[in-house]
Amino acid sequence: MIEEENFSQKTKGSVVGASKVSAESEVFENKLRPKEFDHYVGQGDVKKNLKVFVEAAKKRGETLDHTIFYGPPGLGKTTLAMILAGEMTRQLRVTSGPALEKPGDLASILSNLKDGDFLFIDEIHRLRMPVEEILYTAMEDFAIDLVVGKGPSARTMRLNVPRFTLIGATTLMSRLSSPLRDRFGHTEKLRYYELDEIQQILERSSHILDIKIEEAAAKKLSQSCRCTPRIANRLLRRMRDFAEILHEGLITEKVVEEGLKSLSVDEKGLDFADQELLRAVCEKFGGGPVGLSTISAAIGEDVNTIEDMIEPFLIREGLLQKTPRGRMATELAFSHLGLENLKPENGTKLF
Ligand SMILES: Nc1ncnc2c1ncn2[C@@H]1O[C@H](COP(=O)(O)OP(=O)(O)OP(=O)(O)O)[C@@H](O)[C@H]1O
Ligand SMILES: [Mg+2]
Repeated sequence: MIEEENFSQKTKGSVVGASKVSAESEVFENKLRPKEFDHYVGQGDVKKNLKVFVEAAKKRGETLDHTIFYGPPGLGKTTLAMILAGEMTRQLRVTSGPALEKPGDLASILSNLKDGDFLFIDEIHRLRMPVEEILYTAMEDFAIDLVVGKGPSARTMRLNVPRFTLIGATTLMSRLSSPLRDRFGHTEKLRYYELDEIQQILERSSHILDIKIEEAAAKKLSQSCRCTPRIANRLLRRMRDFAEILHEGLITEKVVEEGLKSLSVDEKGLDFADQELLRAVCEKFGGGPVGLSTISAAIGEDVNTIEDMIEPFLIREGLLQKTPRGRMATELAFSHLGLENLKPENGTKLF
């Protein structure tokens, strides 16, 4: 069971960044979210582990160990947290790192949980240190130490909290402090999806939303979804718009081709922001190396968005490299953008 009212807390106070979605998208996301493991496509190893942990915890009548999911935005971390709570038939309370401003915010959430409940902290790498410190004893001893009063009369009061399971999610595992990381019993990395898995997700979502899509069109569209379910669902909705207005409702290969072109999404799935970044590195900085803040200034995109949202996919696709001296476009990037003429001489600079 999930406390629906708490979903609204997810965005409270959180800074708009790579992982946040618009209100319209959020409605669709919740509608399309698989509610059980069997409907959750792909991530076979993660699912296998989680099923074992759930079964074992149920068998022993214990709460699930604290778990952290990490990986790029839109791969299904929040969805898994909800599935876990559902499988354990427990409540899930949702919040996020930036929404917890003071230790008292976390203390009040924790003390309102019941034994066995789940607390989901999205963007957990963005917790403020005083809040994070409260979490250490809460996770380990199910107790929190609060400072009561001010000045010489201040004293520490220990408060017991219910035995809860913390589910953390982060796009940037390296930003998590090691004391926090060490307190999680399970760490699961989510990977980008295979094309056939994205196609399955497109077909599942079409079915739920009653969208008509040809198999060949779903296959074609899957190639432009950056191996990410959230992007697949978003592009599917846009293709539906094109199909309804221009092609009597059916999404065909031609609709996908024209639709993607209108959205400036290329055949590798690079959108305008990705292309702009790559183009800047190739055209303005001779392929690099160039620092992140320089790229940020050149394209007017903030550093976090570049690091969390744009770069990981470009790196995965072999279009960009992260080096100690800065970011570098690869040979593939020059040819993908049709900028062979700008490739640095003899390519030695690139690799
Ligand atoms: N394995 C999956 N099978 C089917 N649909 C999925 C899967 N993973 C994610 N989705 C869909 O993608 C959407 C985004 O997933 P989710 O919100 O869980 O991603 P996230 O990893 O939490 O992203 P963020 O880092 O931005 O918070 C969901 O609405 C869900 O419909
Ligand atoms: Mg999420």
